[in-house]
Amino acid sequence: MALVNENYLKLPGSYLFSEIARRVNQFKTTNPQADIIRLGIGDVTRPLPPAVIEAMQKGVEEMRSPETFRGYGPEQGYQFLIEKIIENDFVPRGVELSVDEVFVSDGAKSDTANFQELFGVNNIMAVTDPVYPVYVDSNVMAGRTGMFNNDKGQYEGIVYLPCTEENGMKPSLPEKRVDMIYLCFPNNPTGMTLSKEELKLWVEYARENRSILLFDAAYEAYIQEEGVPHSIFEIEGAREVAVEFRSFSKTAGFTGTRCAYTIVPKEVMVYDSKGKAHSLNQLWLRRQTTKFNGASYPVQAGAVAVFSQEGKLQIKETINYYMENARIIREGLQGAGYKVFGGVNAPYIWMKTPNNMGSWEFFDQLMEGANVVGTPGAGFGANGEGYFRLTAFGTRENTLRAIERIRTRM
Ligand code: MLT
Repeated sequence: MALVNENYLKLPGSYLFSEIARRVNQFKTTNPQADIIRLGIGDVTRPLPPAVIEAMQKGVEEMRSPETFRGYGPEQGYQFLIEKIIENDFVPRGVELSVDEVFVSDGAKSDTANFQELFGVNNIMAVTDPVYPVYVDSNVMAGRTGMFNNDKGQYEGIVYLPCTEENGMKPSLPEKRVDMIYLCFPNNPTGMTLSKEELKLWVEYARENRSILLFDAAYEAYIQEEGVPHSIFEIEGAREVAVEFRSFSKTAGFTGTRCAYTIVPKEVMVYDSKGKAHSLNQLWLRRQTTKFNGASYPVQAGAVAVFSQEGKLQIKETINYYMENARIIREGLQGAGYKVFGGVNAPYIWMKTPNNMGSWEFFDQLMEGANVVGTPGAGFGANGEGYFRLTAFGTRENTLRAIERIRTRM
């Protein structure tokens, strides 16, 4: 008799975005005429930049001839891409990395979910609340948490760091010692950022407590304001305590193409029960070489074009397009009397629901009344209750129509 991994039974029936898709499909079945605008899941709508398409096509073409055909690539990613990543994303910010500290993958979702495997099951983990659900769910699956407490809307055994209106959506340091801390800035879902000084406190905390910061920077390309850190490694000492997740998905339209990378500096250590230090970089390499065979060659060939001169210009244009959407949503909602956060250095707008309405209730009302789909804040954690997330990744036309409908029909 095959026994189940009972940790899976602690999870809600479906993943947040699958649940939203299910509700939308159900609504569409009973309302086939409804013209639904989807600003729920953060999926991009602009096509891949022409420079990327061209490079990918060339990559595919190379697979045609025996001379240029490539089979298995390095699990860690091709050096030609890793060098460009370091040269363009880190060196200009004063961050030096060696090529074996960058691990190219097929997505930051899988990397952030998989990375926890390297840590002991008894580690105490901390997450912000609200939070991107992948960090929590993957740790639940691994058995690093207790049961879900329905009254609190939280798992036992996780240290939640509330991000509320009172603290400006910025988490405070944990009151008790924690071992693993997930941080995402610019934040999904609140769209807020931390300053260098604020991030420095986390690095200091991690150094004092020998904890590890799992820093998700998937949205760094959306930072518009000067002085907001793009990488945790801009903070002195972070190389000893932090891992950073990056993605081409939101930066360059790779949500369907899949390419990302994770930075694991060689100084980061984890400890065994005898107190002996082990290199997280070596452990991640061991994990990836065993369980992953690398992102495909044409995809990595395409990703490298993100760093070409034309690629950079094309990406900038796309990011500006989405950030104009963000402005339209932010100002449109403010004009209609809603309280909003984010949308300045991030493609997410976090709004307070009207009259303290529950976020799933608002989800239903918005879908039924305005045929606009967003993401209920409660889906990101207990402190997300009473909030709602809209993404700036829609088309301009749909963004304008959605705001108009919210203003006139809600
Ligand atoms: C989101 O909507 O939060 C994102 O699409 C999630 C993701 O990138 O996996």
